[in-house]
Order: sequence, then C-alpha cells, then structure tokens
Amino acid sequence: MSIKYPPQAIDRILIFDTTLRDGEQSPGASLNVDEKLVIAKQLAKLGVDIIEAGFPFASPGDFEAVQRIAEQVGTETGPVICGLARATQADIQAAAQALAPAHYKRIHTFIATSDIHLEFKLKKSRAEVLKIAPEMVAYAKTFVEDVEFSPEDAGRSDPEFLYQVLEAAIAAGATTINIPDTVGYTTPAEFGALIKGIKDNVPNIDQAIISVHGHNDLGLAVANFLEAAKNGARQLECTINGIGERAGNAALEELVMALHVRRQYFNPFFGRPVDSEASLTNIDTRQLYKTSRLVSNLTGMLIQPNKAIVGANAFAHESGIHQDGVLKHKLTYEIMDAQLIGLAENQIVLGKLSGRNAFASRLRELGFELSETDLNKAFLRFKDVADKKREITDWDLEAIVKDETQAS
Ligand code: KIV
Ligand code: ZN
Repeated sequence: MSIKYPPQAIDRILIFDTTLRDGEQSPGASLNVDEKLVIAKQLAKLGVDIIEAGFPFASPGDFEAVQRIAEQVGTETGPVICGLARATQADIQAAAQALAPAHYKRIHTFIATSDIHLEFKLKKSRAEVLKIAPEMVAYAKTFVEDVEFSPEDAGRSDPEFLYQVLEAAIAAGATTINIPDTVGYTTPAEFGALIKGIKDNVPNIDQAIISVHGHNDLGLAVANFLEAAKNGARQLECTINGIGERAGNAALEELVMALHVRRQYFNPFFGRPVDSEASLTNIDTRQLYKTSRLVSNLTGMLIQPNKAIVGANAFAHESGIHQDGVLKHKLTYEIMDAQLIGLAENQIVLGKLSGRNAFASRLRELGFELSETDLNKAFLRFKDVADKKREITDWDLEAIVKDETQAS
C-alpha cells in the first residue's frame, strides 16, 4: 500500500482519480456499472493511489458501482477506494456501506465554505458550517480511518474562515484536507498562495495531507495544481482526459507528464536533488494512452485532436520544417517520447495475420464489448482493411467498430 502516514512522510504526489465520480458528472458521459468496473481496473493498472468510485447516496447505480469496485479492485496492495458524501449522516452511512468490502477505504465528505454558497445554496451561517464540518468528519471516522474533508468552493472562500474550518476538520480526524477550486476561478499564483496560506495558518496542518481539486473553466486547472504542489499539496485530484463538470477537471495525463518531463524543475520542491530521476508519482506512464482511449470510448467523450499528451496530433508533425527537424534529431521538436505514454506500442497493434481472438481482446482493451454478430462483422471488415493497410492503429480499429456497429 502506497499511502504513508504521518503525512510528513509523503515525499511524492498521490494521484487521486475522480473520473468515475466528478468525471462522470460531464454532461452526456454516463457509464453503467460494468463499464465503471472496467475503468476502475484499468486505473489500478495505471497506478493511481486513490480511486473515487462514485457518490453512493446519489443513486442505486452509483451505490452498486462503488460496492463492486470496493469488492473487486480494492485489494491489499491498493488502491484506496473512496466514496463521496455530503456532510450528512445519510450520505456518510451510504458511503460507508458501499465501501465496506474494500481493503483500504476512504470517505470523502464535503460542505461549502464560500459566502456565495452559504447564502444561496446552503442557506446556512458560517457558525453552522463550522459546527457541521467537524461533526460529520467525526461521524465518518466512526466507519473508516481514512477521512477526506473538502470545503467546497474554497477558491472563493474567505481564507480566515477556511483556516478555522480546516483546523476543526483535522482536529475531528480528517487525514486529508482537499482544497477545491470548484468553479475554476483562481489563477496559478493565487492558488499557490492559498495553499501556502493554509500551511502557514492552520496550526494542526501537519496532521493531514493537503490535496487539491480544480475545474478548468479558465483552462488553468493543471497550472494551478502544479503551483499548489510547489507550495506543499501532496495529493492531486484529477480525471482521465480532464473530463468533468462544465469545462472539466484537471487532466491526470497532463499533470503526470508535466511532473515527469519537468522533474528536474519540481524535484527541489519535494526536497530531492535536482537531478534525481525518481518519479514524482506512482503512475505507470505507459498505461496513459490506453487508459485515455478506454475512457473516451466508454464515455463517448471525444478527445480534441490537439489535446495535450493524448490528442491525435500530440505527437504529429505536419509542417515541413518540423518534420525535417525531427528526422535530424527528435529533440528539436519533441519534449517527450511517444513510447513514454504507451503510444508507439499501442499504435501499431494488429495486422493482416492477426486472429479473431487478438482482435476481440484489443477491442475489449479499448472499451468495446461487441455481440458475436457485431464482432464477426467487424472482424471481416478488419481483414479487409488489413489487406490494404500494413499497420492497423487503434484509431483504425475504433473507426471499424463504429462503422460496423452503426450499420447494424
Ligand atoms: O468541485 C468540487 O468542489 C467537488 C467537491 C465535491 C470536492 O467536486
Ligand atoms: Zn469537482
């Protein structure tokens, strides 16, 4: 198991994946329980530290998904399985019940702290929130050891009030305090300063891990997180392909690759020698591309071609000058090797000699579960394409399946 307590012992970044909870809140991205299970297994293979598997009180489907992921993915070697709960007893009970089978379980409870949310959404005073937050953390603690607390809309909350709520939540037993920029409003310098302010002003902050959660309304979520990490955040909450509410969440693949490619820049903020090669996360970067395709195919959320790291053009060179440069030396226009994200390995997957089993198994990895009839049709079409095209890429496979299954 990778999470060490006390939190001061954390000298790397914990990756908390919320694709199945906040990611699934993307308009149009609903997943059934089996699909969630497939994604959770792949997230475990990717090496995420914590999977936020859902919001058990929200619906019977979410409850079942969290329960099945807790049973089948939460083993003694991790990852931690987490369930979201508002700061109410009913939500916390549902989360505890769904998480019960997991080896390592976490309840993530939240309540808003910004005046806008207090006045218009919760209709509660600051004093009430300051009372409820620790009470509900303590209640969650009666079910699990590992409790995360989030002051929702922290990015727009009065810092002095935020410090008070966080101190009370930690005193009540929160092991992680998560700082959400719920509406993607802050800028990197502000978000970094907010984390520094929390470190400097919350007296018991050393008893908890500082986490960050952020949305991409201004396209700043990843930049904000990197600034937060430099200022002491040790858990980043993110989603595959950056899917999530509105403009989405911070993208896991971008964060992980930024920390990897620029590790010499980040190392000193983690007390490491500048030239340390040790990874700052636990992620197996070679699983990134495959995970991205799987999530895109199962959610139906397309990836823009110029999306950093996993977009179709991320490693493509179109202009003559760039092509010439790359042929002379890759480093002229490439800052990372496509193989690092598992792209080159996955791009050329099958050829005309590949059999039906290999074809079906690759489709399953990409998130396609076809009926026998559709599989047969797709396989015939694949053979046809493979005869004409030496290298069949994942994109070819996806196009074949979409054509064939839409035609039926
Ligand atoms: O964006 C947000 O504030 C959230 C919380 C529940 C952490 O998703
Ligand atoms: Zn969120």
